[in-house]
Amino acid sequence: MNYVQLEKLGEGTYATVYKGRSRTNNEIVALKEIHLDAEEGTPSTAIREISLMKELKHVNIVRLHDVIHTETKLVLIFEFCEQDLKKYMDQHGERGALDPNTVRSFMYQLLKGTAFCHENQVLHRDLKPQNLLINRKGELKLGDFGLARAFGVPVNTFSNEVVTLWYRAPDVLLGSRTYSTSIDVWSCGCIFAEMISGLPLFRGRDNHDQLLHIMRIIGTPSQQTFDKMSKDSPEIQVKQYPRYPKQDFRAVVPKASPHAIDLLERLLKFDPAERISAAEALSHPYFTSANTTNTFAVGSMAPPSFTFPHPHGLPPPQQQQQQQAYSRQPNYMANPVAVHQMHAAAQQQQQAQAAAMGGYGGVPMHYNAPFGHNPR
Ligand SMILES: Nc1ncnc2c1ncn2[C@@H]1O[C@H](COP(=O)(O)OP(=O)(O)O)[C@@H](O)[C@H]1O
Ligand SMILES: [Mg+2]
Repeated sequence: MNYVQLEKLGEGTYATVYKGRSRTNNEIVALKEIHLDAEEGTPSTAIREISLMKELKHVNIVRLHDVIHTETKLVLIFEFCEQDLKKYMDQHGERGALDPNTVRSFMYQLLKGTAFCHENQVLHRDLKPQNLLINRKGELKLGDFGLARAFGVPVNTFSNEVVTLWYRAPDVLLGSRTYSTSIDVWSCGCIFAEMISGLPLFRGRDNHDQLLHIMRIIGTPSQQTFDKMSKDSPEIQVKQYPRYPKQDFRAVVPKASPHAIDLLERLLKFDPAERISAAEALSHPYFTSANTTNTFAVGSMAPPSFTFPHPHGLPPPQQQQQQQAYSRQPNYMANPVAVHQMHAAAQQQQQAQAAAMGGYGGVPMHYNAPFGHNPR
C-alpha cells in the first residue's frame, strides 16, 4: 500500500480509522479500513459510501482521495481532520459548551455542508457530533456517509433505522419511511443546542422514550398535526402520548441568544413539513444580522471565526480583503512583515474559498486556526 499506517483514530460499526501518511508525497490522511467478510464480499454500505463521497466535493464535506480494494479489506483514504466535534467539545468547550463565535462558525459550516448534500440529492441520515470532523484550520466537515443514500433509491425502501437515536427526527421515530432532507435538519438542530449547552438535547433510551423526551421540550403536537403527518406519511404509527406543553427554549438553552433561539425553533419543528431547509437556515438573522458579529473582543476570541455575510450589502472588494487580513492580525502583530504576507495570503485564500464554496452572497468565509501553527 502506498500509505504508512499510523495510530488508530477511532472505531465504529464497520470500520477502524487510522491516521496514515502517503509514501509518495508525505501527506497525512485518514485510512478507513473496512474488513470484508470473505463470503459476503464488499458490504453494500461501503459501496454506497464510496460512490456518494467521490462525487461530493465541498469544503464542508470530508474529501475522499482514494479507494484501495484488496481481498481482505477495503481502505478508504480521506483527508485528515484533527478531531471530531464530540472530542472537540470535550476538550475545548466549557463542560462541553462552545463559545458563541465557535458555535456560529461550526453551525454555519454544518448547514453549508448539509445544504450541499441536499442540493445533490444526498441525505446524510446520521449527523451527530462524532460524524463531524474538525481540522486545524477550524473547518468543519461532514463525514461518515456509511448510512447515506441517494434519493434515486425509491423512498419507501428506506430502512427505519437510520439516524442515531438522540439526533433522530420525530417523524422517523414514529415510523415514517418517506422522510427526506428534513431529517438531517432535525439533527442539525440537536447538534446546535448541544454545542451551545454542552449537553445532548434529547437523550432517550429507546424509540418511545426518545419521542417523550422530544415532546417534553417542544410540546406534544396537536391532533391536527398528527393527522397531517399521518396523511403525508401513511406508515406513521401514532400512539397515545401525555399532553406536554411546549417549553420556552430560553429556559431549555439559557445560553442561546434570541436569534439562536429563533433558529433552533425553526430547525426543531415536530412536523417535518414545517422545518426550515438547510439552505434557508443559512440566511437566518442568527448568521446575517449586524449585532451577531461583533460581540467578542478581537484577540480574546477563541478561533475559529469567519466573516459573516455583510448585513448591509457588500463592502468594496479592497476593503473586504483588508478587513479579512486585519481580523487575523492578532496572530501576526509581532511581525509586521507577516502582516503584509497576510494580505497576499488572505487574497489567495479568499479566491480559493470563493471558488470552492460558490461563495455566500459574494462574501467568502475565513478561519483562524484553532490548533495553532503546528505543522502536521
Ligand atoms: N478523516 C478523518 N480524520 C480524522 N479522524 C477521523 C476521520 N474519519 C473518521 N475519523 C475518526 O474515526 C471515527 C469513526 O469514523 P467514522 O467514519 O464515523 O466511522 P464509523 O462508520 O465506524 O462510525 C470518527 O468518529 C472520528 O473520530
Ligand atoms: Mg461514525
